Amino acid sequence: MAFPAAAFHDLQGRGVLISGGGSGIGAALVEAFARQGARVAFIDIAEAESRALAERLANDCAFAPVFLRADLRDARSLAGIVDQAAAAIGDIRVLVNNAARDDRQRIEDVTPESWDENLSINLRPVFFLAQAVAPHMKRAGGGSIVNFSSIAYLLNMGEIPAYATAKAGIVGLTKSLAGRLGPDDIRVNAILPGMVVTERQKQLWLTDAAIAAMRDKQCLKHTLIADDMVGPCLYLASDCSARMTAQTMIIDGGVL
Ligand SMILES: NC(=O)c1ccc[n+]([C@@H]2O[C@H](COP(=O)([O-])OP(=O)(O)OC[C@H]3O[C@@H](n4cnc5c(N)ncnc54)[C@H](O)[C@@H]3O)[C@@H](O)[C@H]2O)c1
Repeated sequence: MAFPAAAFHDLQGRGVLISGGGSGIGAALVEAFARQGARVAFIDIAEAESRALAERLANDCAFAPVFLRADLRDARSLAGIVDQAAAAIGDIRVLVNNAARDDRQRIEDVTPESWDENLSINLRPVFFLAQAVAPHMKRAGGGSIVNFSSIAYLLNMGEIPAYATAKAGIVGLTKSLAGRLGPDDIRVNAILPGMVVTERQKQLWLTDAAIAAMRDKQCLKHTLIADDMVGPCLYLASDCSARMTAQTMIIDGGVL
């Protein structure tokens, strides 16, 4: 992977918990935080990919990232997972809510069950992980929560009604959490990626034509990859953004 030119010295030794760290953008974040010297734990349901990532980084980083296998849809288990993470990495000072599943669905096919299922991965864990992590951060003197939303909810994309709702909800939730947690020096911000070409996106949804069409719309004529999300996320996690909270950062190459 390409590494960010900047070293964020305050992230050395810092406890960082990342949801959905086993693949895609999350895996790039696990690697980047680990290479900054952070003490990283990540939650994922994809066992093989996650173990392979943890093993690949184990000998390469000052602190080997810790993989915690869990299904984020099980909201009641999340406080226990956060406690496990804290036991493994020490004080959690950074939470990256990255996990998601961008299932396509025609409006006619949405059922109450499919709607709840979608939000149970795309929105609910964002709140419950933040709720569980907040006391740890408060005890540690503060922290930073970075929530991954998406520009998708701003683009009238009809094929993802529940996902778009969740991603809009994450922005509202970011502001609400920032208001409540600010007095404890816990900052909460959101990143809205544009089209980021990961292996999964290529396998499931993205054709070469769609990638080229998005690149045409961007001011910057580069296809976005997972590593492009790393610098903004490290910045929001680090004390470099110490007085920034309740904000959204769009990283889309200049579409919006
Ligand atoms: N890739 C893009 O183009 C794009 C664009 C806009 C926003 N985003 C956002 O960025 C974030 C990362 O996107 P990505 O493309 O890397 O996603 P991805 O689908 O490739 O990876 C998500 C990770 O979450 C894990 N996960 C899914 N369901 C889970 C569950 N129930 N329990 C535990 N882990 C689970 C997956 O195993 C995977 O490792 C997401 O929040 C996504 O909405 C991505």
